[in-house]
Amino acid sequence: MSYSQTVQALFKPFTIGNLSLSNRIVMAPMTRQFSPNGVPGLDVANYYRRRAENGVGLIVTEGTVINHPDSSNQVNVPNFFGKDALNGWANVVKAVHEVGGRIIPQIWHMGARGNVNDYSETDIAAIILAFAQAAFEAKQLGFDGIELHGAHGYLIDQFFWEKTNQRTDKYGGDMLARTRFAVEVIEACRRAVGPDFPIVLRFSQWKSTDYTAKLAETPELLEQFLAPLVDAGVDIFHCSTRRFWEPEFEDSDLNLAGWTKKLTGKPTITVGSVGLDNDFMSTFTKGKEANNTKIEGLIEKLEREEFDLVAIGRSLLVDPAWVNKIRDGRTNELIPFTSEAVKVLY
Ligand SMILES: Cc1cc2nc3c(=O)[nH]c(=O)nc-3n(C[C@H](O)[C@H](O)[C@H](O)COP(=O)(O)O)c2cc1C
Repeated sequence: MSYSQTVQALFKPFTIGNLSLSNRIVMAPMTRQFSPNGVPGLDVANYYRRRAENGVGLIVTEGTVINHPDSSNQVNVPNFFGKDALNGWANVVKAVHEVGGRIIPQIWHMGARGNVNDYSETDIAAIILAFAQAAFEAKQLGFDGIELHGAHGYLIDQFFWEKTNQRTDKYGGDMLARTRFAVEVIEACRRAVGPDFPIVLRFSQWKSTDYTAKLAETPELLEQFLAPLVDAGVDIFHCSTRRFWEPEFEDSDLNLAGWTKKLTGKPTITVGSVGLDNDFMSTFTKGKEANNTKIEGLIEKLEREEFDLVAIGRSLLVDPAWVNKIRDGRTNELIPFTSEAVKVLY
C-alpha cells in the first residue's frame, strides 16, 4: 500500500482480542436521525459501507438506543432492539463486512427523564439488563464489538457526575460509588458477550450542558475513576474531547486519551477536531464552519504512542474518502466542514 511517509503511524494495523484493524482510524459515533421509527434502512447500511470501503479502520455507529422507555426521545434515532431494527442492523454489518470493514454499535441510553436520583433499584436493574441484551444482540448480529456511550451527560455519565448524581444509596456518593452503575453495566455486558468480544467505553469530562465540566480534576481522581471500569472489563477507552491537542492536566502535554492510557495500560482512542480548525460544538451552537488543517501534531502524539487510535467525526461525515486522501497525501482534495457540506449527510 502506498502512503505518504508522514502519516505512516496512522496506517499501522492494530489488534485487540478478536478485533484486528487495518489502520488506526475510527469513525466517531454521529447521530443522524435517519432511521424512521428507529429502524435503520438500506440507506444507513450504504452510508457506513461507503466509509468502510474508503479505508476507515473501525466504524463506531451513531448512538443506538437500548430497550427501555426513557432511552430515547427521538423517533428517528435507531433502536437496538425489536425485530425490524435488528434486521436493519444485520444489513449494516453485512454491508460493512462485505468491503472488509469493521463496525461496532454505540449503545446508548439518553438519560433519565427527570433525574437519576428518581430511579429505584428495580429501574436500574431493568436498564442494566437492557444494556446486556443489546450487547448480546450485537454479538449475535456479527458486530465486531460494542461501544457503551458513557459520555456527554447521557445516562451512564449522569451517574458519573456529582452534579447529576445525588443518590444516597450504593450508586451515589464518592467517585467509586458513582462508577458503580457503569461497572454493573459493563459486567453485565461482559457476561453477555464473553471474554474476547471488545467492549469500548466512551467517556468525557465535558457535558453538553457544561463544556468546562470535569469529572476528574486531577490525575489521581482520574485514576480512581478509571480503575473500577478496567476491573469491570473495559478493553478500550474512547476519550471524548473537543480538541485533541489540549493537555488534560497541568505539567504534562498528555491529553485525556494520553492520561487514560498511562493510568490504565489500556488502549485508548483520541478524538476532537483532528484535521479541523474549529471544535464540533461551536459548529452547531455558533454556526461556525471548520477548515481543514495539517495533522502533524496528531501524528507526533501517535508516534509517541500516547494513544492507539484516532477518531474522526465531522470530516468523515462530509467526506467518506477522507482516510484515503490523508493516506495518499491528497490534502488539496479535503473537504471543509461547512453548513452546506453537512446538509448532505450521505
Ligand atoms: C452530527 C454529530 C452527531 C454526533 N452524535 C454523537 C453520538 O451519537 N454519540 C457520541 O458519542 N458523540 C456524538 N458526536 C460527537 C462525535 O462523536 C465527535 O466526538 C465530535 O464530532 C468531535 O470529533 P470531530 O471534531 O472530528 O468532529 C456527534 C457529533 C456530530 C458532529
